[in-house]
Amino acid sequence: MSRTTLLQVGPLMPALEAALREQHELLRAQDIGAPTPLGDPTAAARVQAVVTSAPVGLPVAWLDQLPSLRVVSSFGVGLDKLPLDACRARGLPVGYTPDVLNDCVADLAMGLLLDGARQIAAADRFVRRGAWQQGRFPVTTRVSGKRLGIVGLGRIGQAVARRAAGFDMDIAYNNRRPVDGVAWRHEPSLLALAEWADFLVLTVAASADTRQLINADVLAALGPKGLLVNVARGSVVDEAVLIAGLKNGSLGGAALDVFDDEPHVPEALLALDQVVLTPHMASGTHETRQAMADLTLANLRAGLAGERLPARAP
Ligand code: 8YV
Repeated sequence: MSRTTLLQVGPLMPALEAALREQHELLRAQDIGAPTPLGDPTAAARVQAVVTSAPVGLPVAWLDQLPSLRVVSSFGVGLDKLPLDACRARGLPVGYTPDVLNDCVADLAMGLLLDGARQIAAADRFVRRGAWQQGRFPVTTRVSGKRLGIVGLGRIGQAVARRAAGFDMDIAYNNRRPVDGVAWRHEPSLLALAEWADFLVLTVAASADTRQLINADVLAALGPKGLLVNVARGSVVDEAVLIAGLKNGSLGGAALDVFDDEPHVPEALLALDQVVLTPHMASGTHETRQAMADLTLANLRAGLAGERLPARAP
């Protein structure tokens, strides 16, 4: 029996790539900016499945050049880089990896919040450069009992809220609509939420609607003592305004795992001590990445077998 041909878009976890290569012919796509998925159109015509990841996605223009495509399987929960409408129009199922990463993303959000408020990384730098010999580290901001605003109370946002409850925080959220069955307060105005909150955590899905949702007004409302934590997507924040606010002190601090132009991080952010920066690593634990790889494979298998995907994108 001939092996199924898959198209790999962007880098994948080595163990996932090895598992794909074991059972299939795995072709590596050109750079995401290229007009064609592969240099060779006959090879493109053989491709029956695309395996990609949330931060890389799949250019819509490539779909027309993959006439044998039967399924797209994406490693990650974010759907913003996937051509969902075009796939739906072609009846192509798109798999993704929700839920399995909720805990680890929420854990990192709490880690960033703690670091942003208590300045753990900055204190580490202080000790390493020998500054402790010259004096004490400045006092920081209390976390327990504070007001937490969550923007986007989906699966990850709820996992953050549950953790924050353990810190006795007062929790409110902004969402398109109130979420059924949760005790936390829905705040229909994002500005009012930012005004009220000490910490604003972003767990909202990226889309055209949420692009630069966190704008000058929201950041001004969060204010000089406020901390912004972003584990969603860089596109959700107006990065230029964020940097200006941090520099002039109208925003207290930021703890960011995601950026607008990853892996490029604006130089201005690197220079600021009240900013915590991590390299889009929220789902990056051995356990969660393995679970994501397993689900990526399960979605792929189901799609190739013409069966229902375990996790099909809406
Ligand atoms: C990435 C993510 O998938 O799930 C998402 O949407 O952004 C991450 O979990 C991960 O970094 C692998 O590239």
